Amino acid sequence: MFMLQVGIIGAGRIGKLHADHIQHMRNVRVRAISDVYIAGLDTWASEMGIPVVTSDYRDLLNDPEIEAVFICSPTSTHAAIIKEAAQAGKHIFCEKPVSFSVDTTERALEAVKKAGVKMQVGFNRRFDHNFKKARDVVQAGKIGAPHLLRITSRDPEPPPAEYISKSGGLFMDMTIHDFDMARYVMQSEVVEVYAQGANLIDPQIGELNDIDTAVVNLRFANGALGIIENSRKAVYGYDQRLEAFGSEGCVTTNNDRASTAIVATADGVQMDKPLYFFLERYTQAYIQEVEDFVRAILHDGPIVCDANDGLQAERIARAAKESLLSGRPVKLEHESAPMQHQ
Ligand SMILES: NC(=O)c1ccc[n+]([C@@H]2O[C@H](COP(=O)([O-])OP(=O)(O)OC[C@H]3O[C@@H](n4cnc5c(N)ncnc54)[C@H](O)[C@@H]3O)[C@@H](O)[C@H]2O)c1
Repeated sequence: MFMLQVGIIGAGRIGKLHADHIQHMRNVRVRAISDVYIAGLDTWASEMGIPVVTSDYRDLLNDPEIEAVFICSPTSTHAAIIKEAAQAGKHIFCEKPVSFSVDTTERALEAVKKAGVKMQVGFNRRFDHNFKKARDVVQAGKIGAPHLLRITSRDPEPPPAEYISKSGGLFMDMTIHDFDMARYVMQSEVVEVYAQGANLIDPQIGELNDIDTAVVNLRFANGALGIIENSRKAVYGYDQRLEAFGSEGCVTTNNDRASTAIVATADGVQMDKPLYFFLERYTQAYIQEVEDFVRAILHDGPIVCDANDGLQAERIARAAKESLLSGRPVKLEHESAPMQHQ
């Protein structure tokens, strides 16, 4: 018998990915998976060794053997499921973002707090070996007092129009990972945001009132400044880098590639392109975030990326949207703006 049994809600891209990783782990197994569309899911689940398939996620919440659920359904469903899962006493791993509205997220998180269950938000990049190292370097004081942060975050190709229309917009869907990364590396809250955006890649994205290119300036509570730049289309692959600069130095991370070989000939110098997209680049991070969540439950340990982290990233995304629409910087209030704990 495995030490922890979990349920997966939503058997789409990310739900199946987490299920696959969990089935290869030592101390945890997926006991049940639910999706509103279960045609063909039985066969997949049986190949994965998942005994229960259901179209109603409440079956997972009512199962006493299941101690935690992974909410991997569309964002619009997260908040309601979080509340029910918390009331059922299940620990919660929720994919990002928690919801499209800060108020909705706050209400869902109240239910989590009241129930006293653990909740982790799926900001997988915190668990990426490169970004984790950058954070550790900053935390250890090796670059001195942080002054500047630069995050480059570009996708290899834009998602289909149907996805864009339900995504919550570039800031809530894509930049939200970068907003979390900014807080994580700088260990300071964002207190001001100024965002500019453009539609340069796909006119359909503009027709859907979204942008595909953005620059976001940040001011942190510790006085440091940051800049995030996004594109939905980098022809050379997934471009995910950052640099943190401070009074005593600087830490830079580069893209992961299929190999580190550099081929130099009379024609020029070549290396492999960055790994194609998030599924390739962040495999290790997706595994690590689940292992950390499982460990936190089994050993009653801290959650590295908790419900408040999910909320704060959404607050920054909302402020960025407000800034984009108004053309002005937007301030964010914090009761206190402490350094983060983990
Ligand atoms: N952390 C990451 O890197 C990352 C990557 C991709 C997606 N996501 C997030 O994960 C979530 C899902 O995204 P996806 O790309 O896997 O979407 P998807 O459309 O591939 O999968 C979602 C699945 O949920 C099912 N579903 C809908 N309502 C449901 C319900 N009430 N109960 C159970 N299942 C239900 C759908 O039928 C679908 O199969 C989104 O919130 C998204 O933002 C995170």
